[in-house]
Amino acid sequence: MDQVTFRSDTVLSDVHLLLPNACHLMKRLNGVGQPVFTSKIRILRDYDEKDSSCDSPVHENSDASNVPRDEDGDLDVVRRPRCATYNRDPVCPIILSQSAVTLTDQDEDSEEEDGACDIIKIEHTMATPLEDVGKQVWRGAFLLADFILAQASMFKGATVLELGAGTGLTSIVMAMVAKTVYCTDVGEDLLSMCQRNVTFNKQHFEPQESEIRVRQLDWMADDFCTDADLEFCWTDAEVADLHDNTTFLMAADVCYDDDLTDALFRTLYRLSSNMRHPSTTYISIEKRLNFTLRHMDVSCEAYDHFRHCLDQLQQMTDGKMNFTVEPMKISFPQFFQYERVDQLELWKVTAERL
Ligand SMILES: C[S@@+](CC[C@H](N)C(=O)[O-])C[C@H]1O[C@@H](n2cnc3c(N)ncnc32)[C@H](O)[C@@H]1O
Repeated sequence: MDQVTFRSDTVLSDVHLLLPNACHLMKRLNGVGQPVFTSKIRILRDYDEKDSSCDSPVHENSDASNVPRDEDGDLDVVRRPRCATYNRDPVCPIILSQSAVTLTDQDEDSEEEDGACDIIKIEHTMATPLEDVGKQVWRGAFLLADFILAQASMFKGATVLELGAGTGLTSIVMAMVAKTVYCTDVGEDLLSMCQRNVTFNKQHFEPQESEIRVRQLDWMADDFCTDADLEFCWTDAEVADLHDNTTFLMAADVCYDDDLTDALFRTLYRLSSNMRHPSTTYISIEKRLNFTLRHMDVSCEAYDHFRHCLDQLQQMTDGKMNFTVEPMKISFPQFFQYERVDQLELWKVTAERL
């Protein structure tokens, strides 16, 4: 496929929009006939601490007489380093070009980069209808993945639950440090894609005996799917393990529809109130601003609703649970190349039983 066309009723993640638009190679059609692509995402492990000084002012305490000037005597201003670039070559995510890949999985596996410890290989679709957005990779997934690698010692050996995991990228990164990751979403086609991605990337977590279990967890349902005839169902032992051992939950870019956001927060309440330990949830969100006639201004109603749900959770006084909510600074290092726009946010929600 040389050219990708997008229908008007589809949505396209900015991650994919920003990819070099050279020659996208469709790998196969998925269960519902959508073209599937593969991206190789490089982990930038050589992050240099001195590059992280983006927040500190340039020329702090400097004497104006020492500032360099051009030949006319004008100040030669040294620009503040750009946080998101770190002077690296643009390496990822990369849509494989026709020349870089052949079509069969067998040939693919013989590629030099496959199995490399700094490459995550993700199958995804490009533009999708809204109900299939999980098949694309979103910036919030990278933000959360950055946070995990920046705080690796905090997650070491933990049991973690991801809600709305989509392609599974964030769960794969989490499994590099945590012990068990329950990677959950809804829909057999999406979960199959996610499972394939987990299998592609097992070299990242199997050596340290970590595991990822891809499971169905629908926020609209009142309970776990335990129907043994279904592929991504839970066993009773897994449900018990989740309740007994989970200390972290995470969700990337999952608040874009008010009904779903309500269901997500209900699920969050139900899960954390059934957990044996206090839990901490990290939620990334991108505030997508649009002009609306209703407001005659730019606004992001989905974001406003998310903030409303956070407030409600924090103010809840049901005598059973206590939630605290705080925004996280996102000045932590960037291990993945994507545009860390100002609209990206990370929120921390802690839950404990009273
Ligand atoms: C914008 S995508 C984000 C996917 C992934 N976390 C990322 O950032 O790349 C939103 C995700 O929420 C999931 N989702 C939507 N409704 C859901 C529901 N009722 N139960 C569980 N997951 C749901 C979608 O399937 C999708 O994977």
